[in-house]
Formats: sequence, C-alpha cells, structure tokens
Amino acid sequence: MHSSEQTKKTPIAVLISGRGSNLQCLIDACAADAYPARIVAVISNRPDAYGLERARAAGIPAIAIDHKAYEARESFEAALDTALREAGAQFVCLAGFMRILTESFVNRWAGRMINIHPSLLPKFKGVDTHKRAIEAGETEHGCTVHWVTPGMDEGPVIAQARVPVLPGDTPETLAARVLEQEHRLYPQALELALAQQR
Ligand code: GRF
Repeated sequence: MHSSEQTKKTPIAVLISGRGSNLQCLIDACAADAYPARIVAVISNRPDAYGLERARAAGIPAIAIDHKAYEARESFEAALDTALREAGAQFVCLAGFMRILTESFVNRWAGRMINIHPSLLPKFKGVDTHKRAIEAGETEHGCTVHWVTPGMDEGPVIAQARVPVLPGDTPETLAARVLEQEHRLYPQALELALAQQR
C-alpha cells in the first residue's frame, strides 16, 4: 500500500472481551486498500480473550487492560482512554466488549464510537437476546450496528440485518444465523459510519 493511501484511512481501535470473530471481519475488511479504516490497536478488558491472538496474528498491537486490576470503573476507563490516545485511535468499534461504559467516557468519544448488538434494536437490549427473541415468539431477529450513546444499546441505528427465527431454533442455532449476518454487517456499517462522520 502507498503511504498516501494509508493516510486516507481513519485509525480505529477495536474493543473486545472474547473470541473476536467480529474483530476478525474488521481486520479482513481493513486489509483492502480501498477500505476507509485501519486498525491501530485491539484492546481487551480480559487478558485471555482469543481476539487478542487474532490481533497479534495480523500484526496489530494487542493490549490487555484487565478491569479487575482497577478499583473503580473510572480508573479503568482512564487507562482505556490513555491507551486509545497513545495508539492514535480516532474512532472506536466495540465488538463483543462486555463492560458498561460511563457517561463521561461515552461523551468523550461521542460521534466516534459504534457498537454491534445481536438484536433488532430497539428490541432486546442487553444480554441473552437470542433466547429472549425465541421466548417472545419473534418470527424475525437480527443484529444492529449503532452509535454509542450513554443509554445502553440506545444510540442511533447505522445499519441492521435480519434473519428468520425458524421452528425448532435454539438460542445457539439462532445465534449462529445472526452471527453470520454480523460478520457481513459490521464492516459495511463501519464504512457508513465513517462516511456520516465526514
Ligand atoms: C456478538 O454476537 C456481538 O454482537 C455481541 O457479542 C458477540 C461477540 O462475538 N455484542 P465475537 O467476540 O465478535 O465473536
């Protein structure tokens, strides 16, 4: 890649807590010259997150900031904010990041932070979305990429993808169907978000 193309890409950080399959899709998307982002850091609040290995394998700085090492949410977030700035991140993608962020942190990154959530928001905010969708008798479920605002899973929607809920679905089979769509949606939605920002 030419350096002029590098500079057109927005430097982003991806925050994770676990397996990092959505992270992997973002890594793969960013590999294309024409894609408008490049990943400057992957940060996990769990040192054992498999996603950190994915980052290392791709040659991306992988940083663990263990929330258990901090007494207060605010001090954990101060460390997170420092790491983001030191990495030169101008935009943040939450991808299976399982910590609630304070209003003050969210406001610091307002308009520059997005999240992927496994439901058709505003339905099923929070956890166990697939189980709850089945129990509610939904015939359709899916995933949402949205701007992060202080209310959990409440920010403006950037893009959604839908899947059917099929007879006999378990939370696991439904989750797998949704995850496939997450992987398609997140890179597209990030591109849209960056375009909206400009
Ligand atoms: C995804 O279902 C995402 O929507 C949710 O947590 C899961 C993370 O999966 N927020 P992965 O770590 O990207 O594989």
